[in-house]
Amino acid sequence: MAVEAWFMDESGEDQRLPHHRDPKEFMSLDRLAELGVLYWKLDPSDYENDEELRKIREDRGYSYMDLLDLCPEKVDNYEQKLKNFYTEHIHGDEEIRYCLAGSGYFDIRDKEDRWIRIWMKPGDLIVLPAGIYHRFTLDTDNYVKLMRLFVGEPVWTAYNRPQEDHPARKEYVKCLTEKVSPGVALFAH
Ligand code: LAC
Ligand code: NI
Repeated sequence: MAVEAWFMDESGEDQRLPHHRDPKEFMSLDRLAELGVLYWKLDPSDYENDEELRKIREDRGYSYMDLLDLCPEKVDNYEQKLKNFYTEHIHGDEEIRYCLAGSGYFDIRDKEDRWIRIWMKPGDLIVLPAGIYHRFTLDTDNYVKLMRLFVGEPVWTAYNRPQEDHPARKEYVKCLTEKVSPGVALFAH
């Protein structure tokens, strides 16, 4: 099955809960694509020899790769990192994450500034475009192992909202407003 994404409710409850609206409102992959979000479903069991992943990395120039095993034993400043991940921000480059194990939520803002929650599970690979407001949290299972990809030397700098004058933000907003046809082509530059 494709990745699940939904509109979040407004409650201030535990960020690790699903935060569905009542009734639930899901968002399709097509509409994620309109926001510039790319998605692939891959087989994570043998990711080191996955031809499909190799092809994606080659096509998009994702030369850099590392693994983020998000648990307190393996990550320095674990609690602080989780806090930073969940603070709304943008980056100057794409954020590319491939879920190898566990699960978690990537939240992104849509055109009307509503939160969309994307539930990442093993095999889900997403690309968030540069300049999109987003954040990340673990879910109630409290564990995820992510592959991080990047074009060239990685830059993880997060610019917290508001960031309307950041070049990547301006470019992203421009792409959203000028877009004439649906799809991802305009973002793949
Ligand atoms: C992030 C982590 C989850 O950058 O990779 O938000
Ligand atoms: Ni980020």
